Amino acid sequence: MKLIQLNKQITLMLTSLFIFSQYANAADIKAGKEASTQCEGCHGINGDSQSSLFPKLVGQKGLYLEAQLKKFKSGARSNSMMKGVASNLTKQNIENVAAFYASLTSKKGVAGDSTLAKKGEAKVAMCQGCHGSSFEGRGVMPKLAGQHPDYIKKQLVNFKSKARKGEPMNSMTSSLSEEDINEISAYLGGL
Ligand code: HEC
Ligand code: HEC
Repeated sequence: MKLIQLNKQITLMLTSLFIFSQYANAADIKAGKEASTQCEGCHGINGDSQSSLFPKLVGQKGLYLEAQLKKFKSGARSNSMMKGVASNLTKQNIENVAAFYASLTSKKGVAGDSTLAKKGEAKVAMCQGCHGSSFEGRGVMPKLAGQHPDYIKKQLVNFKSKARKGEPMNSMTSSLSEEDINEISAYLGGL
């Protein structure tokens, strides 16, 4: 039953990705680079954040970045710092800044604890269908490779408690234990 629901969600998601791509506007990467100076203080230069409090944006998928900025703006995803930032961005600013970060080449990240990471590697097969075989991301499904392990962990905990709302992740995380979350996060950070 759960698998059937998941399959339906994947089909829906692929359909909406197709529709999205039909209407994609030409974004202005140069304007996006200028706008990104407002983000540097937290997310680092070129989105290469040096602190796990702030997610890396370098090489993240454009559609994912756009979707999240719109969620922060509307309040569908709550974070006081990002609410303030996103409220001041127009739709065009959002598209430009998303296109800028998406145009950058990501770097290999730093894994968490190596014993945990090794165990995590054995638990991520169910995530690859959406996040990509190398966790490079696809459309609205974020790149996870190289993200700060502590940030990934925080998001998985938040999806599980529904402090962060978003399907299919609220359902996906319901069956993950704290141990699974620690191990998976440690592994993904090193990709
Ligand atoms: C004052 C610090 C601050 C500034 C400035 C800031 N951010 Fe953020 N941003 C955060 C924090 C903190 C989070 C993590 C929120 C959470 O834990 O859910 C975040 C999360 C995000 C996310 C979600 C990423 C993901 O992987 O889910 C995006 C996208 C984002 N920021 C884009 C931007 C952009 C674009 C700018 C500049 C226009 C910007 N931010 C400026 C603090 C900041
Ligand atoms: C059916 C597709 C699907 C599967 C399977 C899936 N995800 Fe996701 N994941 C998503 C989508 C879509 C989002 C964006 C959710 C939102 O914010 O609306 C997401 C978001 C995330 C985020 C937030 C990243 C960030 O930058 O904030 C993490 C972490 C994550 N997924 C980890 C996982 C892990 C670990 C697994 C396997 C246990 C997994 N996902 C399985 C579709 C999926």
